[in-house]
Amino acid sequence: MTKEVKVDKEESKKGKYDPRNKLNDLTSSEWIPETISVWNQKGLGKNHPDVKIEKQHPAPFSFTDVARLIKFFSKKGQTVLDPFLGIGSTLKACALEGRHGIGFELSEKYAELSRERLESEVSSESDDYPEQLVMQGDARELADELEENSIDFLVTSPPYWNILHKVDHKAKQERQSQALDTKYSDDLKDLGNIDNYEEFLDELTGIFSKCRRALKPGKYMAIIVSDFRDKSKYVMFHSDLASKLESVGLEMRGLKVLYQRHKRIFPYGYPYAYVPNIHNQFILILQNKK
Ligand SMILES: C[S@@+](CC[C@H](N)C(=O)[O-])C[C@H]1O[C@@H](n2cnc3c(N)ncnc32)[C@H](O)[C@@H]1O
Repeated sequence: MTKEVKVDKEESKKGKYDPRNKLNDLTSSEWIPETISVWNQKGLGKNHPDVKIEKQHPAPFSFTDVARLIKFFSKKGQTVLDPFLGIGSTLKACALEGRHGIGFELSEKYAELSRERLESEVSSESDDYPEQLVMQGDARELADELEENSIDFLVTSPPYWNILHKVDHKAKQERQSQALDTKYSDDLKDLGNIDNYEEFLDELTGIFSKCRRALKPGKYMAIIVSDFRDKSKYVMFHSDLASKLESVGLEMRGLKVLYQRHKRIFPYGYPYAYVPNIHNQFILILQNKK
């Protein structure tokens, strides 16, 4: 087969890049599958060497899933914000995908681990990646420092109310036995330490509303959350948050279900009642008003 025919075949598989595309660097055939509303969560696997730092946080998300969102909702060279950085999965994905990243994190420990992670997991592969900025502090205050219209995409996973204080099953006991964190901090500014659910929702919405001022008009936010149980009540956190966000100028554009196939199944409720094994997260996709 000649070289030209090979290139043509490659192009027809990948599709063409449309010069009118202002959102991302994807071709038609790369774009379309990303609009499917269900994804399988893709973790590193517990034996991967990079799990060492990730494991120190009680609720990290997979940087490969974040990378997928970053590639869809931004272009190379643009700026991405994560106001609840944790151990820096978003900045790792930004570095690998050629985006500038800014992350806020309240806990000094996780902010430091994020810097360490960039050093050990990204710098070892390449020195040539865009600047990644870890800002340690309260997102309520740091969001005020953002320049208006300076952010192209926001992706994050906030605390899910005080749920880490409540869940008590085998997975938590295992972390305790390995002296790993089972909550983020004891800091009163930590959103995971607010007891009242309505107050928590208002504080969280306030932070996203401040971040919205920095997000360029028409640009997107992807917020990864999960529903949860509060005793026997099933709390639809994803929809409670979406309604609040719509009231501050963010418009719902879609919901992705992130299927967590790897999670263990527990016999909750058996043989008396229906108690779900919650094996999915939701990604709320919102657009800033134009
Ligand atoms: C679900 S975790 C984020 C995990 C992250 N996606 C990762 O992969 O590591 C939420 C994070 O929000 C942080 N946090 C809680 N309250 C905060 C606040 N007021 N300002 C900034 N960060 C806060 C917690 O310390 C925690 O690390």
